[in-house]
Amino acid sequence: MAEKNINKGVAGRAQNLSNSRAQGVYETIDIKPATAVIGGIVSGVDMTQPIPDAQVQDLNHALANHNVLFFRDQPELTPEQQIAFARNFGDLHIHPAGPQDLNPEIFVIHTHKDSKINNGGGWHTDVSCDEKPPLGTMLQIHKTPEAGGDTLFANMYAAFDALSDTMKDLLRTCTAMHESEHIYRGRYSDRGVDDTGKSFPSAEHPVVRTHPVSGRECLYVNRAFTTKLVDFEQAESDALLKFLFTHLEQPQFQVRFQWEENSIAFWDNRCTQHLALWDYWPEERKGNRVTINGERPFHQIN
Ligand SMILES: [Fe+2]
Repeated sequence: MAEKNINKGVAGRAQNLSNSRAQGVYETIDIKPATAVIGGIVSGVDMTQPIPDAQVQDLNHALANHNVLFFRDQPELTPEQQIAFARNFGDLHIHPAGPQDLNPEIFVIHTHKDSKINNGGGWHTDVSCDEKPPLGTMLQIHKTPEAGGDTLFANMYAAFDALSDTMKDLLRTCTAMHESEHIYRGRYSDRGVDDTGKSFPSAEHPVVRTHPVSGRECLYVNRAFTTKLVDFEQAESDALLKFLFTHLEQPQFQVRFQWEENSIAFWDNRCTQHLALWDYWPEERKGNRVTINGERPFHQIN
């Protein structure tokens, strides 16, 4: 099973990738690139059953190569099946603010005619306000609107690579605050969450992050959670962040995924951002999300 290796930088610097997998040759799965810059459509996986170690390794390497994996051939997974599959990639993350009406490890994504918000409607990485933001997220959409409800994903390696060397050198020296009070306070009140007396996480992270698997640098600021560049004047921070957000949200870094019933997206939350469109009101869209624990972001100069 072979594919064209679209991301030689990953292959060249990855520390733990076997040569064949890093070249895009997998033993247990098939992958078709979704675009030239981000996304792979995977077949050959049965998520209802325990999967062999070789397939876990294939999927880890596919994620490193493609940054977001799409699956269109799964049945509707039970919460237990989705949790068991996600645990192949690490311990699971508990959302700091979301409703936990099914299982603490399942975040129910549900938008309908009475909803006040759409989860993830602006560009963001999931929960970057945490000291250790999630490694990745696995979302299955069970009920789709007749049309619309696409999710856009963007490649933050490509966004960083497109900057000038001068800008890259400046950003390598910077850290930024990621906060969540302005996002999470009261956000889930219509789903029964009472956050009275609750405090929400914030963290300082490098603006350029080294991916722990690929060894590559990627941009790590997002419009939702990143509030200020540390040690800059407010006006300087506002101007530079505005430039970076506009830069990284350009379409040449993106794939737009059209969900079908029971489609699954598994994204690497360390090197991507995403945006969920809410263009289908008053129709309903529903699914289950499971999120995998990550490490503290770091920047390493090679
Ligand atoms: Fe999200």
